Amino acid sequence: MLKLLASVREYKKPSLEAPLYVSLEVVMECLIPFIISRLVNNIRAGCEFRELLLDGALLIIMAFMSLLFGIIAGNACSTASCGFAKNLRSDLFRAIQKFSFGNIDKFSTASLVTRLTTDVNDVQQAYMMIIRTAIRGPLMLVFAFIMAWIMGGSIALVFLFTVPFLAVALFLIAKWAMPVFRNLFKKYDALNNSIQENIHAIRVVKAFVREDYEKEKFALSAGNLCNEFTFAEKILSLNNPVMHFCIDTVMIFVLYYGSYKVLSSELDVGQIASLITYGMQILGSLMRLSMVFVMITLARESALRIAEVLNEVPEIANPVNGIKELSDGSITFHDVSFRYGSNRNFALSHVNLQINSGSMIGIIGGTGSSKSTLVQLISRLYDVSEGSVMVGGHDVREYDLASLRNNVAVVLQKNELFSGTIRENLLWGDSSATDQRIQEACKIACADEFIERLPEKYNTHIEQNGRNLSGGQKQRLCIARALLKRPKILILDDSTSAVDTHTDALIKSSLRAYMPEVTKIIIAQRISSVQEADKIILLEGGEVKAAGTHEELLKSNGIYNEIYLSQNQGG
Ligand SMILES: Nc1ncnc2c1ncn2[C@@H]1O[C@H](COP(=O)(O)OP(=O)(O)OP(=O)(O)O)[C@@H](O)[C@H]1O
Ligand SMILES: [Mg+2]
Repeated sequence: MLKLLASVREYKKPSLEAPLYVSLEVVMECLIPFIISRLVNNIRAGCEFRELLLDGALLIIMAFMSLLFGIIAGNACSTASCGFAKNLRSDLFRAIQKFSFGNIDKFSTASLVTRLTTDVNDVQQAYMMIIRTAIRGPLMLVFAFIMAWIMGGSIALVFLFTVPFLAVALFLIAKWAMPVFRNLFKKYDALNNSIQENIHAIRVVKAFVREDYEKEKFALSAGNLCNEFTFAEKILSLNNPVMHFCIDTVMIFVLYYGSYKVLSSELDVGQIASLITYGMQILGSLMRLSMVFVMITLARESALRIAEVLNEVPEIANPVNGIKELSDGSITFHDVSFRYGSNRNFALSHVNLQINSGSMIGIIGGTGSSKSTLVQLISRLYDVSEGSVMVGGHDVREYDLASLRNNVAVVLQKNELFSGTIRENLLWGDSSATDQRIQEACKIACADEFIERLPEKYNTHIEQNGRNLSGGQKQRLCIARALLKRPKILILDDSTSAVDTHTDALIKSSLRAYMPEVTKIIIAQRISSVQEADKIILLEGGEVKAAGTHEELLKSNGIYNEIYLSQNQGG
């Protein structure tokens, strides 16, 4: 909670104002029964009308002030809690932006979404309760008790006897409910995961006619969540009858014992009337406190889940005074081994490579041979487990992260476009790029021919995930976007798989012709895609099995020969 409270920041003032005005409201509410009791006794004693009028006026003023303090407290409370939630959400968002790929692997996307939405909402509600009701409850309890003691003496002690009883009952209820809620949040994540996955892949679901199966799966998840929620709520709802039982018992006692005292002339009617009001206030505040307790029980789990994200240390740290300039695009792998997270098996083992600046390198290998893993180490999307990766003569860990990533453009295998125009998407590569540069980049990536055919050309709106573009069109736009970064190293991870062979060859020759100084690493499934490369690296099971030009590998490597033959037999 302390970690979370750091997000209050500029909302400290309303966060303090709320309890202050709540306290003033409580003072007014506690004084009112006192004046009423005086009024009742004065009437019984047959006082003058002027005196009654004065007390009446005083009561009205106090009631009005209590209302005013209540309104101010309410406003401050809303400002503070909504502002706190806003800050907390943006702190969470910022923390997630700092995550490396390794950190992202730990949390599922759905779970992060739940934390940013539902969990922050729970904490916001609890915060509101804390600064308003959690202050109001104990204050009211103390004030009302003091006033009850002044008015009724020892009879007020009855109210105190209920406190330990209720505390034990509440403790037991919370102890029972806590693990149920913890489990519930996990089910929430599972449900959100299922919704996200399904909506993301809705086309696949339809293509495979799996709607009924998905509906059943969803109904099961939703049903499970509902059952769990019902159980948790049932436990918490025990709180209410327990509270009411206590209040009713205490009230019956006060009335019974109080009437006896009135009959024996130890107390007067005014005192009994105010005692009952104070009793209601004490027990009412106990009831409110129990509600706060329930809210905090709920929010505690949410707070823990939020703190988990805030406390997550980014696996890849930006070095202090990191190098900002890359001298050239040369790359060296020194005995590099790598494994994902806590996996036992190495995805890459003992990789040694020397790539000259400005050369074109092809990487070939079967599915799962760690081609993508290898290139992700160059721009520090992951850090090596052993060995080192050097770029431009320095270890990648010595570079300022932003400078390194600006100089190493990676077109990832699973590429994303964002909703917006084609131009807006391309400007992601370089927000200051001129129209002429944008067109040049699109020309090299062979994207210009289809953009020019669109009625709105570069202003064509791209839907979410680029769903109004073909696979090949998307890939070409992603390449153009990377080219706009003017990188020293360009990595294309299977980025022309959906492009026809002719265009594929055209893109490669353009890259060679227009960007001779840029190191180009091209991962491909088809040997024809990388045939012209200066060096082709053959990966298998995370190890470099062979490296050389196409001709050299054809002569010297059996596996390469086999792949080449199998890919060309049809032709
Ligand atoms: N984020 C990840 N967490 C854990 N393991 C992973 C992760 N990404 C990849 N792997 C594992 O690492 C190995 C290499 O995967 P990688 O994606 O590098 O293969 P690839 O050669 O690019 O395959 P493809 O040709 O299908 O793209 C695989 O066994 C895969 O299961
Ligand atoms: Mg891959």
